[in-house]
Amino acid sequence: MSFKNISLIYIFLLLFGQVSGQTKSSKSFYPGKTWNDNMGKPIQAHGGGVMYYNRVYYWYGENKDTVTSNQNTGFKGISCYSSKDLYHWKNEGIVLNPVKSDSKHDLYPGNIVERPKVLYNEKNKQFVMWMHVDQQGYKYARQGVAISKNPTGPFEYINSVRPNGFESRDMTIFKDDDEKAYAIYSSENNKTLHLSLLTDDYLEHSATYKRIMIDMSREAPAIFKSRGKYFLITSYCTGWSPNPALYAIADSMMGNWKEIENPCKGEGAETTFGAQSTFVLPIEGRNESFIFMADKWNPKNLSDSRYIWLPIQFNGNKLHIKWVEEWSLDFFKRFNW
Ligand code: DGJ
Repeated sequence: MSFKNISLIYIFLLLFGQVSGQTKSSKSFYPGKTWNDNMGKPIQAHGGGVMYYNRVYYWYGENKDTVTSNQNTGFKGISCYSSKDLYHWKNEGIVLNPVKSDSKHDLYPGNIVERPKVLYNEKNKQFVMWMHVDQQGYKYARQGVAISKNPTGPFEYINSVRPNGFESRDMTIFKDDDEKAYAIYSSENNKTLHLSLLTDDYLEHSATYKRIMIDMSREAPAIFKSRGKYFLITSYCTGWSPNPALYAIADSMMGNWKEIENPCKGEGAETTFGAQSTFVLPIEGRNESFIFMADKWNPKNLSDSRYIWLPIQFNGNKLHIKWVEEWSLDFFKRFNW
């Protein structure tokens, strides 16, 4: 091969590397760069969350493949990816499919399904997925639930509800150390967040719920527990446009939630680095190591919305999220909190 050809290949690889950020051997996160799966295709797991089960991480999210504008947010299925190292993700396919044959069904392709999250229910030995189910215009405002015996599905859809009769839009779920699980969601016309205790099988909302961040118009909830305290990161409601985050702390899930401040610091903090919270991922086997997961929405081409994963840092009880161009899990080694 001539020197010219080798140079051309090198330039191509350099350019490709800059666009996609990651290569097959990467051991780094590149926030905001295209993130490809094992098939070399951009990961489609928007508004997603990660569940750890049997030494494997499973990343579930909205498949927006071929959604080229914000006019077409119709349901294209919930996708699942698996990984052992968090850098490389195997495409496990669509684990909850649209129901094309019934226009009245919640999962009809014309409807909206967003922010799916999955928990493992020890009691029934099954995986439970909760998601925001809506219709165009976002007035249906319900939570849908589906179950599977396998983390990679297929998930069987059960039904949708308005928890305790209240509207529900952006949502997440959280399992505490005592196996109790909760749903946290934007309610009351997105003005106030609700936090509901789920039943022991995780399939329904119990009558126990609490209103938090009242009249603050918060959405995109992402919750985690660290050293006995609960942290809830949220965004303001501005559609697909980014805005400043705000987090709250509580000593117990049903306790008093106190708003603190924007956890993002430095350049880009006012727009959550151009993104919106979706989940906080605890790293297995590493003490107090959490990844802030956010969606950098691209309303002109939603399928090309990117992922911003950043390490959460603690300053006493305060959270700090700062922009890092490239980082690895070793980042957490330098801290002793
Ligand atoms: C903001 C929400 O967080 C997203 O999940 C999505 O529903 C958009 N609004 C739609 O505008």
